[in-house]
Amino acid sequence: MNILVTGGAGFIGSALVRYLIDHTPHTVFCIDKLTYAGNMASLASVIHHARLHFFHADICDAAAMTRILESSIPQAIIHLAAESHVDRSIDAPDDFMQTNIVGTYTLLQQSLTYWQALPSKLQDAFRFLHVSTDEVFGDLGHTKAKFTEQSSYNPSSPYSASKAASDHLVRAWHRTYNFPALISNCSNNYGPCQFPEKLIPLFIHNALAGLPLSLYGSGEQIRDWLYVDDHVRALLAIVEKGMVGSTYCIGGDNEKTNLDVAHRICDSLNEMLPRSHEKSGDYKDLIRFVADRPGHDQRYAIDASFIQQQLGWAPQESFASGMDKTLRWYLENQNWVQAILSGDYQKKNTQLYNEKALS
Ligand code: NAD
Ligand code: TYD
Repeated sequence: MNILVTGGAGFIGSALVRYLIDHTPHTVFCIDKLTYAGNMASLASVIHHARLHFFHADICDAAAMTRILESSIPQAIIHLAAESHVDRSIDAPDDFMQTNIVGTYTLLQQSLTYWQALPSKLQDAFRFLHVSTDEVFGDLGHTKAKFTEQSSYNPSSPYSASKAASDHLVRAWHRTYNFPALISNCSNNYGPCQFPEKLIPLFIHNALAGLPLSLYGSGEQIRDWLYVDDHVRALLAIVEKGMVGSTYCIGGDNEKTNLDVAHRICDSLNEMLPRSHEKSGDYKDLIRFVADRPGHDQRYAIDASFIQQQLGWAPQESFASGMDKTLRWYLENQNWVQAILSGDYQKKNTQLYNEKALS
């Protein structure tokens, strides 16, 4: 089938596109604005594949969305395009409101018009999966049970508030127009090709560069980590077997404090790449405690039993195996990170995009 993926040059979107090309017969239509977070190098292994089509477009652009929908004729849309980093949302929320709220509205509205014009058999088969986050549920104290599909919305940051707003839009479009939408709320992802502003890739990079590993506040905040390919497999299970109108919580059952994660990275690097004699010592010597993030949520954790029971999904990676894969990938792909630090990835984006457009 034809699957339209928004945000396909981002961290999770690129993992999804690579998975679809490498492991399924589907034809993939990818939309990405190529913001600072969009990186065509993350699609390098599949970009020239005949089953992958790439559109450099903004989901806020209604005319572009209509053109792309009419030319790609998708049977499913998996919507990942978003501004995704909490710290940036605190410093500069504008783009978050535009892309996450107005962009989701624009994509929804154009998708509704496209879907309403389909023959009824294709209408029945069509799915719109809105990819969201567990952060919409807000702060889970240490004593509270994990988030479920019944958890109430209580977002803390401009990022999570904008994602909560987009979830509400999708639910309203389903209820009001019968639009065949589904929502997923996933915990923190990690894995290859994650922009080095997020905790795990930032700490791997800083450790290798001998820079401080700055933990906000006490470092005792808890996140529930999921390897990105496990998230991708969950998204495909929802598109293929999920019930229209439903929400699915996805998580790795891997609650770790940020300090645990920092220690894990340091311990693995101590074994894989011991620090040289001049800078002798443990990577843990680089850990620092700095001012806390404003409004910092203490804990997120997902109860994934609904998706496990309904769709038979379960994570394949443990935190140990996923972290091992992730660390090896960053060690073997230092050029991917270096191109971001030098800014060269944006030139490469234009080059790869032009090559693809001409092919
Ligand atoms: P990311 O920041 O790595 O990638 C986002 C992608 O969207 C980038 O390629 C960017 O260029 C593109 N984009 C941004 N604005 C756009 C616009 N207006 N039009 C078209 N493209 C645009 O993000 P990610 O970590 O891959 O997250 C993807 C989705 O998954 C987001 O919706 C996020 O809220 C959700 N999510 C992420 C996590 C996580 O841990 N990373 C967990 C749960 C849910
Ligand atoms: P992050 O990767 O930004 O994801 P999110 O805020 O969406 O959960 O951060 C994960 C956790 O790590 C979060 O509790 C904030 C913390 N953190 C630090 O302590 N130091 C850092 O430099 C970063 C980027 C995050």
